[in-house]
Amino acid sequence: MIRIESTRCIRCGLCARVCVAHCLHMTENAVTVRHEDYCLHCGQCVAVCPNGAVSLDGTAPDALPPMQEFPSMESMAALIRGRRSVRAFKDMDVPRDTLLQALDVVRHAPTGKNLENVSWLVLEGRPALRRVADAVVDLFRKEKSLARLVEAHDKGEDPIFRGAPCAVFACAEGTYDLDIVNCSIAAATLDLLLPTMGLGACWAGYVMRAAALDENVRNVMDMDGNLRPMAGLMVGFPALHYRRVPERRPLRVRFVHKEEA
Ligand SMILES: Cc1cc2nc3c(=O)[nH]c(=O)nc-3n(C[C@H](O)[C@H](O)[C@H](O)COP(=O)(O)O)c2cc1C
Repeated sequence: MIRIESTRCIRCGLCARVCVAHCLHMTENAVTVRHEDYCLHCGQCVAVCPNGAVSLDGTAPDALPPMQEFPSMESMAALIRGRRSVRAFKDMDVPRDTLLQALDVVRHAPTGKNLENVSWLVLEGRPALRRVADAVVDLFRKEKSLARLVEAHDKGEDPIFRGAPCAVFACAEGTYDLDIVNCSIAAATLDLLLPTMGLGACWAGYVMRAAALDENVRNVMDMDGNLRPMAGLMVGFPALHYRRVPERRPLRVRFVHKEEA
């Protein structure tokens, strides 16, 4: 529910300008709320108001955290370039508090239509991960290209979770056609955030593929009823330190710019 506090509203119209659902309208001397059922609850109106006049769903604007300065381009670039897939982990559990702190930040990653429909499944402990890895490998036993992975698993190595103490999966019902994008954005955001907390991650691609294909894998993961694990990472404290940034393919980009229709 959107509320405009008329004693605070300075009629600048910014709330109406940022509302993607056109719920807010500037009339001659006031902002009016219309078509509220189309509201995405994204909070852009609240965030942009210079005078704290807009409240959404009963939360007072003054109770919300103020904007903070962003990291510099250099800091972000260092993080994006320096993040590595971690496949060697210390023999240490990831404290739940630490993981929850990270996941709580990731709630702010964007979702299509602001559905905020991503939930997380956290698998903790190597025995639990081993059971999932067993189910994943069983599914892949017939794939010739994965023979070495199967062999390594059968020898007691962990080519699926790489010895991580836990794995997290971004899950959604799969009823929205961009659910996989929502989940991937959430997981990618977490992947970038974790190194700032001393943790490391690696995408659990084999598990994601197997879980999409096989109900048995989802059952062993103890998935909630209608949810599907759509993007996953193994997570832990990195055992190794990377010293340089590997090269990547050159940028491929094509601009299309037309002056006339
Ligand atoms: C969708 C996706 C799935 C992946 N699956 C796996 C996986 O199952 N096991 C693994 O060890 N690495 C996996 N990776 C990690 C990639 O191999 C890695 O990102 C790539 O080699 C580049 O290395 P970097 O992440 O250190 O820059 C995956 C990465 C992505 C984006």
